[in-house]
Amino acid sequence: MSAKPPAKLSSAEAQKELDRLAREIAEHDRRYHGEDAPTISDADYDALRRRNADIEARFPLLVRPDSPSHRVGAKASEKFAKVVHARPMLSLDNAFSDEDVEDFIGRVRRFLGLKDEEEIAVTAEPKIDGLSASLRYENGLLVQGATRGDGSEGEDITANLRTLSDIPLRLKGKPPAVLEVRGEVYMTHKAFEALNKRQEKEGKATYANPRNSAAGSVRQLDPGITAGRALNFFAYTWGEISTLPAATQSGMLEKFRDYGFVVNPLVRRCESLAQVLKFYREIESKRAKLGYDIDGVVYKVDRLDWQERLGFVSRSPRWAIAHKFPAEQAETVLEDIEIQVGRTGKLAPVARLVPVTVGGVVVRNATLHNEDEIARKDVRIGDTVVIQRAGDVIPQIVRVIAEKRPKSAKPYHFPTKCPVCGSHAVREVDEKTGKEDVDRRCTGGLICAAQAVERLRYFVSRPAFDIEGFGSIYIETLFEKGLLKEPADIFRLAKKPDLLNRALAERRAEMSAERRAKEGKDEVKKSKKDEEGEGRLVENLVAAIEARRRIAMDRFINALGIRHVGETNARLIARNYPSIEAFVEAMAQKDAVEELQHIQGVGDVLAQAVKDFFDEPHNRKLVANLLKEVTVTPLPKPKTEGSPVAGKTVVFTGALEKMTRQEAKARAEMLGAKVSGSVSAKTDLVVAGPGAGSKLKEAAKHNVEVIDEDAWLRLIG
Ligand code: IVH
Repeated sequence: MSAKPPAKLSSAEAQKELDRLAREIAEHDRRYHGEDAPTISDADYDALRRRNADIEARFPLLVRPDSPSHRVGAKASEKFAKVVHARPMLSLDNAFSDEDVEDFIGRVRRFLGLKDEEEIAVTAEPKIDGLSASLRYENGLLVQGATRGDGSEGEDITANLRTLSDIPLRLKGKPPAVLEVRGEVYMTHKAFEALNKRQEKEGKATYANPRNSAAGSVRQLDPGITAGRALNFFAYTWGEISTLPAATQSGMLEKFRDYGFVVNPLVRRCESLAQVLKFYREIESKRAKLGYDIDGVVYKVDRLDWQERLGFVSRSPRWAIAHKFPAEQAETVLEDIEIQVGRTGKLAPVARLVPVTVGGVVVRNATLHNEDEIARKDVRIGDTVVIQRAGDVIPQIVRVIAEKRPKSAKPYHFPTKCPVCGSHAVREVDEKTGKEDVDRRCTGGLICAAQAVERLRYFVSRPAFDIEGFGSIYIETLFEKGLLKEPADIFRLAKKPDLLNRALAERRAEMSAERRAKEGKDEVKKSKKDEEGEGRLVENLVAAIEARRRIAMDRFINALGIRHVGETNARLIARNYPSIEAFVEAMAQKDAVEELQHIQGVGDVLAQAVKDFFDEPHNRKLVANLLKEVTVTPLPKPKTEGSPVAGKTVVFTGALEKMTRQEAKARAEMLGAKVSGSVSAKTDLVVAGPGAGSKLKEAAKHNVEVIDEDAWLRLIG
């Protein structure tokens, strides 16, 4: 890692560094978003982004098109500009039953002083489950698009909304000079599925439901990304308006259509309560086949002069109500419970059901969450159960119908072994609370196919073996082809570049065949140049692997992916053993846990996790195989004698100018200091650079000494 401050970088160095930062930040984003498994601290992540921004500020011509500063990072530091809504964006009151709707009409009638015979016409509109947006047009031109935000203040997402084909940039007809059209941005089921498939293929985070994906898509800092997402928009209300072009809600929607907006085709003007309720049932029965999510029907008093008189109560209009759909339920029989092993090793119980239609969708599986949930609901195989589908969430088992339990119903025993690899599956105990984790996890780690790819990714990542260019696509390909099962295989493969070349060429051929099939194109012959390029790729990869045949002991231990062992703990452990062999040997002893606990900074949970890892024969085999391929270099003993910081807890914050964070940490640790990421009463010293923030406040609170980088360098000599 280049330690040079941005000001000292040459243009060539800056380019290289921006390239590295883009790759590194993207990888951390992927880990954070996609896997919920960050491998660096927030502070270190922020430091990477800051360095990227600083270099870009000095070399604006070198800003990469895929620069992290264009994208919403894991923790978005960049923000959209704020927009104060000219008229607040309100929310709606809910009705959950026919009576609630009747009460609503009654309230309107009383408020307006209308006679019982007088009908109150309302528009009934599907309640779209997306996110609302406000579009401001001046003289027919779109000038601003904003999110709802808190109703009073939203975010300026004009550039993103401009990319939606349902949103006209220039209005047709004769619109009012100032017109704010409001409506819902949403994603169809089809687009949602296609997007998730694409995200998955690219190793990016997938979205939980169409609404989240619509929200995530319009809040991209790069409008190019929004443009690539199929988003739609239904117009249904307005904010500021210079003149009202119609006298009713239904008339306004007609006008919106004339101006070029898409208005939901199902909207209907109803003239009585009976018609309203009939419409509600109709929509409810169509709901599953609409192709987009709705969660109810909105009724709005049609006459705008009445709306005006009715006004608002706090943040919702008196003239409208949302009639919500109940969660859809059905009865079926639980045929079996199967366990799925997630990439983190979590054992997730899935109910296999006799297929049943719930709100028009055939449901075959439902989640049972975890072991305790099965026990709490006393769910047995053969039971008749009530299942529920609420909107887009995964179907759930609500309860068992006890009266229908057959004699043959079998209680379920949650497995204590992983069904994929046979390793022990355990529930961990939280050190602080003493509570058992709700999830049971497979301890198989790398030998468990369900977890292997994920673990292998970690193995080659920067804080572990740091094998440059060994991306996820290689890992997945080689794993699928059976060439990469355990870390040692990486080094075995490096000795067989031909095999590696063939596997990767095959994969590429498959990928381009898929692409051609999709685009309906003929095969293209590979040019000599392409082949040479591919050969070079493998050459580089082999060189990157070979460069790691000698590896520092802390990296080696970190790479094993032992639970609770990250960079810091791996270093703590490594420092206490003269060689990897001595460490492995020690872990085979009965008193391994006690021995580990004697290391300062190693707690009970960590010690037990390390011992558990080495208790599994397959893990010992994996380590032994790996040791046949690589040479592990022990860490130098810290020179704590005479060190002014030995035994002290130090926190680095803000930007360091003379060294990288990593370097500073390593040097401090060499001198026997413990480097922590957060300030507490236990902190002895805070080293603060420019841009230090909340940690300084914490330091003041706990009366901790704060020094700058120069003072730190003088202190440690
Ligand atoms: S009218 C003052 N109409 O529901 C009226 N809202 O719970 C404000 N929504 O924030 C909204 N479909 O995001 C209206 N046809 C529709 C709607 C609709 C969906 C959403 C909208 C609003 C929320 C209120």
